[in-house]
Amino acid sequence: MAGKVVDDEYSKEIEKARRDLRALIASKSCAPIMLRLAWHDAGTYDAKTKTGGPDGSIRNEKELAHAANNGLKIAIDFCEGIKAKHPRITYADLYQLAGVVAVEVTGGPTIDFVPGRKDSLESPEEGRLPDAKQGASHLRDVFYRMGLSDKDIVALSGAHTLGRAHRDRSGFDGPWTKEPLKFDNSYFQELLKGDSEGLLKLSTDKVLVEDPKFCKYVFLYAEDEDAFFSDYSSSHKKLSELGFTPPSSSLKSNHKEQYLANSKCCRSRHCCYCNNPILLH
Ligand code: HEM
Repeated sequence: MAGKVVDDEYSKEIEKARRDLRALIASKSCAPIMLRLAWHDAGTYDAKTKTGGPDGSIRNEKELAHAANNGLKIAIDFCEGIKAKHPRITYADLYQLAGVVAVEVTGGPTIDFVPGRKDSLESPEEGRLPDAKQGASHLRDVFYRMGLSDKDIVALSGAHTLGRAHRDRSGFDGPWTKEPLKFDNSYFQELLKGDSEGLLKLSTDKVLVEDPKFCKYVFLYAEDEDAFFSDYSSSHKKLSELGFTPPSSSLKSNHKEQYLANSKCCRSRHCCYCNNPILLH
């Protein structure tokens, strides 16, 4: 099929790995740390230099030793079991698939996953991931560097609906929500309530309410879980595909070609793939 970058055997392995990840995450209750692994592999991307990103480089000892990655060896080791069963799958795909499955099995939205990422052994310099003690301009520096937007910053921060901070890993302690193994919009509801006993709010969480451009999304997501799920799903897909041109994009560029091929037998002015109108001039 046009635009495919992996063969059928690879696609089948991905589906098997997806099932194995579901079972692993259920048995170890490790959805939060698997999601954090996917984010930390992807979140080093620099759109200008096209370096970093979801390329599996976080498995390198040098990168894993960056302070921001404390504790992620646990998730890397969980993934090794899946890699051993499905050796063809790249680490880059495996970590991103783990993130997508983690969101799905905890009740979050389905996230489109396109395989085909390549592994790299080159690690970016330390300091590309956000510092939890800083504010809005720092968040923008980090996420804009990746090519992401204000909306992506707020939607993706909603991943803190899952999991908790561990004093021995980050110096912070506690969960953001009352049900840290459930993916829902309670992170935003808790943000709007202000400080609650036993729940964590990092500086980078609090600024989402304080900044006028961020806070409109916080209000929206706290009130409308469907809006959160829809935006989260597309922001997460973007994050997981930084620096990777997935085949779906090449599929789109093939639309005109397909239309022209099909127009010989059908007079439709609509794309045979997506049914959108096609403007040829
Ligand atoms: C916006 C900037 C962000 C900052 C400053 C930040 C910071 C942190 C910190 C300090 C922790 C605690 C780590 C520990 O002690 O175990 C954490 C955990 C976590 N982060 Fe973030 N994070 C950010 C964005 C994100 C994004 C974009 C995602 C995913 C899309 C994410 C997913 C998670 C998850 C799931 C956990 C829980 C891990 C666990 O329970 O083991 N974070 N984050």
